[in-house]
Amino acid sequence: MTQQATGEDPGAALPEGGFGTEDDRALEAMLDMANPQPRYEGWIEDGGLLCPIEGFAMATGRSAVDEVLRHPELFTSKGIVQLGNIRPLIPLSIDPPDHLGYRKLLDPLFAPKRMDAIEDDVAARANRFIDTFVDRGSCHFTDELAVPFPSAVFLGLMGLPWEDLGTFLRMKDGIIRPGGATMMEAEKVDPEERTRIQSETAQEIYDYFNAILDEREREPRDDIMSGFLNTEMDGSRLTREDILDICFLFLIAGLDTVTDSLTCFFAFLAQNPEHRRQIAKDPSVIPAAVEELLRWESPVPGVPRMAVADTEVAGCPVKAGTLMMASLGAANVDPAQFGDPMTVRFDRTTNPHIGFGGGVHRCLGSHLARRELRVMMREWHKRIPDYSLKPGSELHYARGLRSVENLELVW
Ligand code: HEM
Repeated sequence: MTQQATGEDPGAALPEGGFGTEDDRALEAMLDMANPQPRYEGWIEDGGLLCPIEGFAMATGRSAVDEVLRHPELFTSKGIVQLGNIRPLIPLSIDPPDHLGYRKLLDPLFAPKRMDAIEDDVAARANRFIDTFVDRGSCHFTDELAVPFPSAVFLGLMGLPWEDLGTFLRMKDGIIRPGGATMMEAEKVDPEERTRIQSETAQEIYDYFNAILDEREREPRDDIMSGFLNTEMDGSRLTREDILDICFLFLIAGLDTVTDSLTCFFAFLAQNPEHRRQIAKDPSVIPAAVEELLRWESPVPGVPRMAVADTEVAGCPVKAGTLMMASLGAANVDPAQFGDPMTVRFDRTTNPHIGFGGGVHRCLGSHLARRELRVMMREWHKRIPDYSLKPGSELHYARGLRSVENLELVW
């Protein structure tokens, strides 16, 4: 299916009114996340660039994905993610050279050393959730743990009280799944109503964080919000608007991604006792297991860009205006990069997966995400080493991001 990508009608790339035509169905199949790895494998065999519909192209193998992610001058991130935000998302929707300035200021706040300092707090928060159901012998893993845990960690990081958890979850969902408790429900909401909810929620988010910043200006503390206000690099500082735009992005980028990863990881482990036993028997395997599950599950299956000039990917022409998807999922099972890519192996000695993306926009929160995932794996398996899916349950994977919306476990 390798062919030329034309950019004549990029607006047609993501149909709003459903998936009626054959082209639309091809796109729908690409977004189905129930069992994507064999499909990824097939895409790589089909070549580095797939063009399922007019105005849209997907880079699949690792080298084609690198070509897209490492050339922000050809493939922009500007203006692609629109979720009720009134200004660009910082740093995701900013291209170099301005992007570099933001990363210089932000990277130190999310460095591994900072994450060492919060490890005990993250573990305490993990156990606070596990405490609520461990004696019951079952839990709705998605709702009772995977959804609230990353938000609870963020509250700690930002110096906010546990009581704000409900507000935090509601604001996040108002942007990501407006009008529905799950992605499936939210997709059924009228597009105008979705936009209305997103805009209202966005304003609430700006107001919420503005009030906290006022407080931290009056009384600085040892938390990320105070860090944002005081961080300085080469004489430059973040403005109040910058900080609000960053906080907005964190709600979108830093919470559901960890939720998604946890549901994918634990669904895999519940169904693969050999792998589960390796972790329960020897927790030192956890860091390698997290990397391998990030590779295999690729919770963020792809990242979007827009071609700003006529160019080429994997030797195929791409027209300016083409909406590009760089498939991280496919790149992560590319046999040119990984031996035995379709097998989940916790004993890989190197694992150069791109589950956190690549190029200048590589995930700012990767050290935080890794810490959350490792700590949760450790604390859970200490207390619940043996578990399985609730009998009779059928896993429902959301569309777009890989995430189990209804994971229920028993032990
Ligand atoms: C396992 C969990 C996570 C995964 C799989 C993940 C994945 C990604 C990916 C693939 C990108 C690249 C987006 C692109 O190129 O368009 C990204 C960017 C980003 N992520 Fe994460 N992420 C995770 C957790 C987090 C957390 C916890 C934070 C919170 C700080 C975070 C903050 C960000 C930010 C701010 C960006 C934009 C970076 C930039 O544009 O320079 N992520 N993430």
